[in-house]
Amino acid sequence: MTTYATTPAAPDPAAPLRKGPAAHDGTAVHVRGLVRAFAGRRVIDGLDLDIRPGEFVALLGHSGCGKSTLLRILAGLDRDIEGAVTVPRRRAVAFQAPRLLPWKRVWRNVVLGLPGRADRVLAERYLAEVGLGQRASVWPKTLSGGEAQRVSLARALVRRPDLLLLDEPFGALDALTRSTAQRLVGELWARHDCAVLLVTHDVEEAVLLADRVLVMRDGGIAHEAAVDLPRPRDIGAPPFVALRTALLAQLGVGATGPAAADATA
Ligand SMILES: Nc1ncnc2c1ncn2[C@@H]1O[C@H](COP(=O)(O)OP(=O)(O)OP(=O)(O)O)[C@@H](O)[C@H]1O
Ligand SMILES: [Mg+2]
Repeated sequence: MTTYATTPAAPDPAAPLRKGPAAHDGTAVHVRGLVRAFAGRRVIDGLDLDIRPGEFVALLGHSGCGKSTLLRILAGLDRDIEGAVTVPRRRAVAFQAPRLLPWKRVWRNVVLGLPGRADRVLAERYLAEVGLGQRASVWPKTLSGGEAQRVSLARALVRRPDLLLLDEPFGALDALTRSTAQRLVGELWARHDCAVLLVTHDVEEAVLLADRVLVMRDGGIAHEAAVDLPRPRDIGAPPFVALRTALLAQLGVGATGPAAADATA
């Protein structure tokens, strides 16, 4: 596990990590009193969060509420914080844009940054997992958006993360590709048994995939709902629909929310 030291008034982005045994047995992510401010504005303001090992958590919230900021902190990409953050040492991130290096072949993108010699066999194994075993040698520009996103997933999984952080990974995909990618992520999660934090704007996607759905608001976790439904989930089943409706209401887009008001205006 990795614990970021609290960095109050004068934060040092290069502050050393405190490394050691898990500070909180039975948790993959443990966050207390997290604060992140930009130019004096607290985007994250006293946030607490726990994620169990192997738990799939989805994070919803309005644009600009701080979801990506939280994810970047958990990834260790932003240390300019106050509060305590404990995360597994092995973690990986996939963003909305696949961020592949265009001058490296697909397989090299997958194992990029891993220690030792670039291992093509390893890359191909993970590409096969995402259904791209035959595309190892091609250039990223020859891939479709959905394929590039799957390469990005392979690149995350090859790190064998205990925590997988996904920031709207399907946001740019068409509905059909998106649904295939969602199913794939569900399968990969079941097989790899890592904790997942999925940031999404899609309430249905959240309820389809997650064990627990969080709603972020006012710099903290304002609401959480356990998704106690058997997998694979039926989006037409009444409990699914009820949960989706309740979460939409939390986001202010339920029957009495702003969207309904707009529709009747
Ligand atoms: N490096 C930065 N410098 C200044 N402000 C920032 C920075 N990064 C994020 N912010 C601000 O923090 C707020 C939260 O941003 P963030 O990207 O976390 O939102 P988000 O919830 O991911 O939104 P979206 O759903 O649109 O992706 C925004 O107001 C944003 O402008
Ligand atoms: Mg974001």
